[in-house]
Amino acid sequence: MDKMNLRRQLNAARASLSPEQLRANAIKTRETLLDQPWVQMAGLVACYWSAGVEPETHGLVFALWKHGATVMLPVLRNDNDLDWAVYDGPDTLAPGRHGIMEPVDTRRGVDAIRTAALVIVPALAVDRKTGVRLGRGGGSYDRALARVGPNVPTVALLHAGELLDDVPAEPHDQQVRFAMTPEGLTSLM
Ligand SMILES: Nc1ncnc2c1ncn2[C@@H]1O[C@H](COP(=O)(O)OP(=O)(O)O)[C@@H](O)[C@H]1O
Ligand SMILES: [Mg+2]
Repeated sequence: MDKMNLRRQLNAARASLSPEQLRANAIKTRETLLDQPWVQMAGLVACYWSAGVEPETHGLVFALWKHGATVMLPVLRNDNDLDWAVYDGPDTLAPGRHGIMEPVDTRRGVDAIRTAALVIVPALAVDRKTGVRLGRGGGSYDRALARVGPNVPTVALLHAGELLDDVPAEPHDQQVRFAMTPEGLTSLM
């Protein structure tokens, strides 16, 4: 299946998720990730602030921050690349482009992600054999993940049924090392 049709199918499945499923997945994701030593030890984390039916990250971001990590969140640029700014508690976010909440903090630049010890990204699907990630079609995370070093853990957050056998990939598409689904954390590479 091509990317466009796969995105359409995955978005339709997401639209039918119940609030209970969304909440249960968020809790499982937060608890599983916070149990990992490499998550606990990460001093600088790049994450995202979820919107709509994306795998929910608000509690995760708050918990990481409460545990003392510095959490950077993306600020979408006009060219669809990702700038980064630091989350400093629930009162430090404001609606940005497309109404998505972004930190009000100074922008650290597109290269700020190079300094993260842990990178948590959204995805519509991940290929279980290759770790290739499918996004919503802006290519933002292909650009961001290309700047992340090979030894930095990268985790895509997914709903059930989004870790797939065959995800269409182009040469620019980036991989992630872990996929987090309601079934648990899967190491991919
Ligand atoms: N490193 C990059 N630099 C510039 N543009 C890129 C880069 N990676 C991807 N893009 C652009 O983003 C667009 C969407 O990419 P795609 O992989 O389909 O989206 P997504 O990763 O969000 O699913 C592509 O047409 C591509 O031209
Ligand atoms: Mg891509």
